[in-house]
Amino acid sequence: DDMQPLKGKCVLVTAGPTREGVDPVRYFTNYSSGKMGYAVARAAHAAGAEVILVSGPTSLKPPEGVELVNVISANEMYEQVMNRFDNVDAVIKSAAVADYRPKVINDHKIKKADSEMIVKMVRNPDILAELGSKKQDQILIGFAAESENIDEYAKKKLEKKRLDLIVANNILEDHSGFDSDTNHVTFFFPNGTEKDFELMSKEDVARQLCSSLASMFEKRAKQ
Ligand code: PMT
Repeated sequence: DDMQPLKGKCVLVTAGPTREGVDPVRYFTNYSSGKMGYAVARAAHAAGAEVILVSGPTSLKPPEGVELVNVISANEMYEQVMNRFDNVDAVIKSAAVADYRPKVINDHKIKKADSEMIVKMVRNPDILAELGSKKQDQILIGFAAESENIDEYAKKKLEKKRLDLIVANNILEDHSGFDSDTNHVTFFFPNGTEKDFELMSKEDVARQLCSSLASMFEKRAKQ
């Protein structure tokens, strides 16, 4: 079906930031609004896919026709994604997952003192890397949020996390990356090809992404 190239496929999309608590009052997070991931979920739904959207905290309206799974922390996102991985055909990881969380979550509000405060942070699981090591025939798409050496760092993540496509965006560029309605992206594929796009709306980036995903499914079906 030309209008619904993802019909019959189940696509899991992640979006938004994660929030890593340190006490009942405070948390660490990042600037992700969820706009990119929600646009991907809507585009995949429009292309006919069954869509599961695993989302960190955002202020966005839930996309229609999509199963929304709300999570807060990276560990929760990890659990929800891993639980579903065996039953999906593709994962698109647009979420900005916190790489670190406070080692201790205090039960009570930390009282202020005159001295400096030191919060010890420990590593969160790398969800995408683990999906890469576990994948059977799922298609894995990652994003790379970079502020320098974009091509080099994006290609390294593509290879290390065993992805089928990585979408690199420069987060320092105006109207691109976090929170904007537009994005300037490059797609990198494992065979060395790349696709460089103009600045465009996150909806258009999402449509391009779904069309590349559909081509990958098509290619596999012919093999
Ligand atoms: O939400 P918006 O405001 O619309 O902004 C969009 C965006 C900038 C967040 C988005 O376009 C984007 O780049 N998302 C990925 C952000 C990110 O965490 O990039 P990274 O280069 O740190 O991570 C690489 C990949 O590994 C990502 O697909 C990420 O989801 C994944 N990852 C990272 C760390 C971790 N612990 N687990 C992961 O799965």
